[in-house]
Amino acid sequence: MPVITEIEDLRRLHKRRTPKMFYDYAESGSWTEQTFRDNSSDFDLIRLRQRVAVDMAGRSTKGRMIGEDVAMPVALAPVGLTGMQCADGEIKAARAAEAFGVPFTLSTMSICSIEDVAAHTSKPFWFQVYTLKDDAFMQRLFDRARAAQCSAIVITVDLQVLGQRHRDLKNGLSAPPKLTLKSIANLATKIPWGLEMLQTRRRGFGNIVGHAAGVSDASSLGAWTAESFDPSLDWERIKQLRKMWGGKVIIKGILDAEDAKLAVDAGADAIVVSNHGGRQLDGALSSIRVLPSIMEAVGDRVEVHLDSGIRSGQDVLKALAMGASGTYIGRAFVNGLGAMGQAGVTRALEIIQNELDVTMALCGEREAANLGRHNLLVPKDFEGEWV
Ligand code: FNR
Repeated sequence: MPVITEIEDLRRLHKRRTPKMFYDYAESGSWTEQTFRDNSSDFDLIRLRQRVAVDMAGRSTKGRMIGEDVAMPVALAPVGLTGMQCADGEIKAARAAEAFGVPFTLSTMSICSIEDVAAHTSKPFWFQVYTLKDDAFMQRLFDRARAAQCSAIVITVDLQVLGQRHRDLKNGLSAPPKLTLKSIANLATKIPWGLEMLQTRRRGFGNIVGHAAGVSDASSLGAWTAESFDPSLDWERIKQLRKMWGGKVIIKGILDAEDAKLAVDAGADAIVVSNHGGRQLDGALSSIRVLPSIMEAVGDRVEVHLDSGIRSGQDVLKALAMGASGTYIGRAFVNGLGAMGQAGVTRALEIIQNELDVTMALCGEREAANLGRHNLLVPKDFEGEWV
């Protein structure tokens, strides 16, 4: 086992252990992957302001997200098919998050169901919904989330239609994987993954198969997704969904100051500045680059969170110092899960917390809650003049 000191080590191990189809699904962006790359490289443009001889004893990475105490303001993002990165993946990730003291968000498109995750955890988690045309199905999803004591729903608004991801199309992505000569040859090199997968019954889309009419397996699910996702989604629909749920709502997938204002008007308790990890509109700006304009537009009216491109505690620190009060990691925890299961997610969280803590100390900041622009050196033209 290689020595693991950074998320990149987990990514390499993830690649080695997991079938190509699922590794590629996690690590790809849409079309040319420009936005996927920018999400990370734009973080690198921001530098840190070193301060010395400040008392750094008793530091704390603690924070709050939508009124909940967190060990650090880093939630696990909703990630579809997590249970294909390793057997029972959502349960393992949720347990790691719970033990660490950070929120876990379950995707609609998860392998383990809402009920399964609830049965294996003891603290409330968040549930992410895509907006579907079928109101009765949405209502049932909300009822199930309520019964599972989810403390918030995350409405993802940037996937009315699916951004094209070349690698998924070329790999013929499906869950469970379709057995073709090529996929069998690849699976044969992933024996520990396969053995674990054979021992679980959770290999389909747990929130949907058996709950939505006409969906029995992944191939019928493809057709169901195309038919069921609501391309006519608008802010009125979002307001309706908020009423149907009746609890806390996080609106995820905001990349424009005008949309941020509309999300606040629709009653969001928090918004997530996100481009879906570069998986939807390729060519869109990175999340960190648009954050300042969104903070200016709504920062005093709503809690602003950010994801897309976070691979280290330093990235977390930069997002917080630019104004976000919370962040999410997607691939960084998925890499941990694919590499080492639950222990890998814990390791990913430890790595990020340690990087955040040490960087705070070297920046002369004792409390994550006090991070601000004074900790950063941001190029004057960081936001750029895009006309
Ligand atoms: C996602 N994301 C996502 N978002 C969502 O709202 N519902 C979902 O089902 C999924 N599924 C999904 C699968 C995979 C493999 C990835 C990588 C991402 C987007 C996710 O919540 C988050 O916005 C990004 O992952 C953040 O970017 P990073 O941290 O991966 O760079």
